[in-house]
Amino acid sequence: MLIKILLGTLLFVGAVFLLLYMMIFVRWKKRKKFDFDQETEDKRAENYPPPYPNGWFNLCSARDVKKGKVIEVEALGQKFAVFRGEDGKVGVLDVYCPHLNANLAEGCVKGNNVVCPFHGWEFNKEGKCAKIPYSDTVPKTAKTKAWEVKENWGLILIWYHSENQVPTWHTDGHFEEIKNYKFHSKSSDILRIHLQDFAENGADYAHFGVVHNILTIPFAHHFINVNHICNIEFGEGDKSHMAYFTDIAELAKKSTNQKIEHAGGKATVTFFGPGFLIFEFTTIIGCLTLIKTFTPLGKLKVRMEDHVYAPKGTFGLAIKYILGEASAQFHDDISIWEKKNFAAKPLLVKEDGPIMQMRAWYSQFYTENSRMA
Ligand code: FES
Ligand SMILES: [Fe+2]
Repeated sequence: MLIKILLGTLLFVGAVFLLLYMMIFVRWKKRKKFDFDQETEDKRAENYPPPYPNGWFNLCSARDVKKGKVIEVEALGQKFAVFRGEDGKVGVLDVYCPHLNANLAEGCVKGNNVVCPFHGWEFNKEGKCAKIPYSDTVPKTAKTKAWEVKENWGLILIWYHSENQVPTWHTDGHFEEIKNYKFHSKSSDILRIHLQDFAENGADYAHFGVVHNILTIPFAHHFINVNHICNIEFGEGDKSHMAYFTDIAELAKKSTNQKIEHAGGKATVTFFGPGFLIFEFTTIIGCLTLIKTFTPLGKLKVRMEDHVYAPKGTFGLAIKYILGEASAQFHDDISIWEKKNFAAKPLLVKEDGPIMQMRAWYSQFYTENSRMA
């Protein structure tokens, strides 16, 4: 009887501890921060592929650009004026006014146009000067670069192509389930990596058993192994900009490596070109969808954002736990990426996974001019 009471108390204390841990620590686990020396970073960047591949990239959240407002956003080695007209539509222009280079993001929005703060020239969403307040004429050449823009999943995305080609694929029609999902949170981080490192991670099967083999639950690594079964496939034809990765993470007893049924989880990742992907986590305690975006800011400098959604009614603690585990895994990867170099000719064995196929898929996003950036 006494043993039963003791065991019951122990189990109860253990469960409370685990719950508190999930609520507090997993959520706040921070990643390792390194000091970077610019000279070393410039040298490291020389070995990597070009910093700005072609594709759709996340500039900012739709809610950051209120109706009738203009903001400045830095991305892709330049600055943009992002504004929302009274019609609710978003325009993205080069930030510097073509007249005398004042900053358009310091101006204001009038109707559906952005107004330069220096001499009051007005530009529409197509980049055309619609009005010069002190002149009867507007020269035909009075225009600035307007970027192709889309609003999807609460993000403002622009099409970047170093040869100025029109979009070869579109972002509409994906993740329609979002209507039944609830937005949970957004996080943003600046990483000293090349965005291709993230894509290669999915094809690098061998690192899962080394970097992602433990849970964040304290002491669990003494008893539990995490085994990953990974697979990646590449889209073809009009889906050639897409890739599909799955990772089934099974938990096994450390002593016997016997699988623990109904534990573990599955991650499905859909890549949409180089700039963003949709992560879907399925576990016994709940499901989570993460829209992960990578926007290059400069050489080996990337803004990574996580936009977290869960089906309505998902238990809040389950979301925090899955998110905590996922972020901890990403943080372990980032610590490696930020300190690594680019192996142009890696020394591989067959168990390493389809790293070179991933590179071949990724190379479609570089064209002649991207190599000059
Ligand atoms: S610099 Fe913009 S109107 Fe003159
Ligand atoms: Fe990884």
